[in-house]
Amino acid sequence: MPTQPASTDVLVVGGGVIGLAAAYRLASDGATVRLVDASGTRGASWAAAGMLAPVSEAIFGERELTRLNLAAVPAFVRFAAQLESALRESGTELPVGLRTDGTLAVALNADDRAALDRLTEFRNSLGLASERLTGSATRRLEPYLSTAVRGGVLALDDLSVDNRRYLTALRAGCEAAGVEFVAGEVAQLTSREGRTTGALTTDGVEFSAGTVLLCSGAATGRLLDVGVQPVKGQILRLAVPERLRAAGEVLTRTVRGIVRGSEVYLVPRAGGEVVVGATSEQQGEDTTVTAGGVYELLRNAYELLPISSEFSFVEARAGTRPGTADNAPLLGRIDDGLVLATGHYRNGILLSALTAEAVAAVLANAPLAPEWSPFGAARFRSEGYAPCR
Ligand code: FAD
Ligand code: GLY
Repeated sequence: MPTQPASTDVLVVGGGVIGLAAAYRLASDGATVRLVDASGTRGASWAAAGMLAPVSEAIFGERELTRLNLAAVPAFVRFAAQLESALRESGTELPVGLRTDGTLAVALNADDRAALDRLTEFRNSLGLASERLTGSATRRLEPYLSTAVRGGVLALDDLSVDNRRYLTALRAGCEAAGVEFVAGEVAQLTSREGRTTGALTTDGVEFSAGTVLLCSGAATGRLLDVGVQPVKGQILRLAVPERLRAAGEVLTRTVRGIVRGSEVYLVPRAGGEVVVGATSEQQGEDTTVTAGGVYELLRNAYELLPISSEFSFVEARAGTRPGTADNAPLLGRIDDGLVLATGHYRNGILLSALTAEAVAAVLANAPLAPEWSPFGAARFRSEGYAPCR
């Protein structure tokens, strides 16, 4: 017989950035919240680069997603400030490492420049502010860039956060707000008369709740067939040596490059770390780091920023982005007891605060912000939901 702890208002399945942000918001609003996570919050959110980049992530055909991503920036800034201040009031200083220096998108050769110009035209047509720069103006902003760089575009509305600090702060905020954490893997959701009532773990424990909030990222398809597919990303963490840091920051803002047709980004952190990412591969739930992935990232980083060959190698990791057919999240009610918040693909860190707000609205049966209307949980499943058992 499965053991059955007391029921809670909400059971959150998945403790990545989406589950944590939602749990924090709901518990702060007074709900009793239990969060079950299988990996100790080491999913895609831990691997991520932490860019909050509605401008430089905007690609052709994604107007509605771009609108959502733009709305996510002020929501993130408010949420992070509120989280930091709530922790400070309880005696804990956990700054999340928000940076507001913008993104510099650069191109290596003439073809790359043409590709960047086409993207910039599209971004400008959406009203996104980005300033076109010559090669020398680009290098005046970031003097360590290669002399081969053909030019760039500065997007001041993109931000970044140290996602690992943010996750640590979210976890501390959840604990302070009374969220109960459970280490365990949900094997299946439980239901009665068409309504989800809880979840059963592989250890045989059945957790019941008024609402189950499914935030299981790229692994969602194991529990519910809603159209989430893992998209693997390999990513590196390098460290700028002290002797270089003594002369000032080697990179003062996020740099995203098109390098002979392939893309790379370099995201600096206050402590001297530079995050270099990321591959994009359809490999199922595989998170192996490959020699080819590391080579590609180091080569592209070196082409843009030759001095990166002097950085020390700290970490190579792979995470799986929760992808969907339109690259946008799935948010909303599936049945009276089940709410879905997943599929955030390349922008889960950026969208975390806006998602937490939206989840709170769904649970309160309040209207969602209009930016969410194209991204309902049911849009890929007209014939209804098939729980995976
Ligand atoms: P996850 O962080 O993967 O968390 C899901 C959690 O659910 C995991 O902890 C897992 O253990 C748990 N889980 C799954 N199934 C079960 C189960 N059955 N039972 C219990 N627990 C379960 N986004 C940005 O906004 N900016 C970026 O710069 C950025 N860079 C990225 C770089 C890389 C290399 C990658 C891979 C992603 C990047 N992303 C970025 C995307 C972002 O990381 C994701 O969109 C986001 O982390 C998704 O959050 P999540 O909470 O849904 O998933
Ligand atoms: N948003 C960056 C990535 O997913 O790699």
